[in-house]
Amino acid sequence: MTVGTNISIRQAEAADASGVAQLMIDNYKIGYRGQLPDDYIESPKLYYKLMEQRHSYYTMQGDARPVCLLAHMMNLRDVTTDKPVLAAMCEAGPLREYPGQELIESYNASETLEVWTNYVSTKAQGQGIGRELFVETLAAAYERFPSCRGTIVVLTFVGNTAGRRFYEKFGGRLAGIIPNYTIDGKHYRVACYEWHNLGYWLRQWKEKSNTRNVCLE
Ligand SMILES: CC(C)(COP(=O)(O)OP(=O)(O)OC[C@H]1O[C@@H](n2cnc3c(N)ncnc32)[C@H](O)[C@@H]1OP(=O)(O)O)[C@@H](O)C(=O)NCCC(=O)NCCS
Repeated sequence: MTVGTNISIRQAEAADASGVAQLMIDNYKIGYRGQLPDDYIESPKLYYKLMEQRHSYYTMQGDARPVCLLAHMMNLRDVTTDKPVLAAMCEAGPLREYPGQELIESYNASETLEVWTNYVSTKAQGQGIGRELFVETLAAAYERFPSCRGTIVVLTFVGNTAGRRFYEKFGGRLAGIIPNYTIDGKHYRVACYEWHNLGYWLRQWKEKSNTRNVCLE
């Protein structure tokens, strides 16, 4: 689908895994410096880990397949491929397992939707693309996971001011701080935002959005 005149939103496919991993790494290099160690951000292993993860999500079959949407900028073309530039990605699915994290374990996993990942290319930020893709992803998740319409959660680093303000703009409530979220054996402080009643929020967001495809019962 095309949103407004500028961006086009579509489902991610296996061939997108590499480009999306690169978009995430570019974001880490600018937005997550000082929050994640440099050697983690710069490690070639990170690229392969993210790419393999994306590939597995994009090729997953069956009911548990997450919603993985990409936004492209229609007015900006890649100089080598001449295709519209990848501007953003967003993934949502049933709440994943976070062993030992009491806050997350307090949610009923079978009724909770999680925004797994949400990145806008650093060159495309501040133009409303994150808003459009976030709303479109959750609208698709509303249809795909009817049992998970009750609660939505998203985790983001405590120090990620942009991400936190973004979720707060969408009415997200700070449910708590996870003090010891573990990545590669290191602990980080992570904020958990929540919303209740996805249908209600989609109606609110749709009013502020150009998104045309949001279809609620
Ligand atoms: C957070 C992020 C997804 C926002 O995407 P974006 O396309 O720049 O955001 P939008 O232009 O759609 O803005 C949507 C709303 O969020 C607010 N917002 C976005 N970035 C903000 C920031 N840095 N500070 C304060 N508010 C911000 C905007 O003010 C806007 O509200 P408004 O339209 O009422 O003014 C993007 O900056 C990003 O990918 N950051 C790095 C990764 C990240 O933090 N992801 C989210 C946490 S996992």
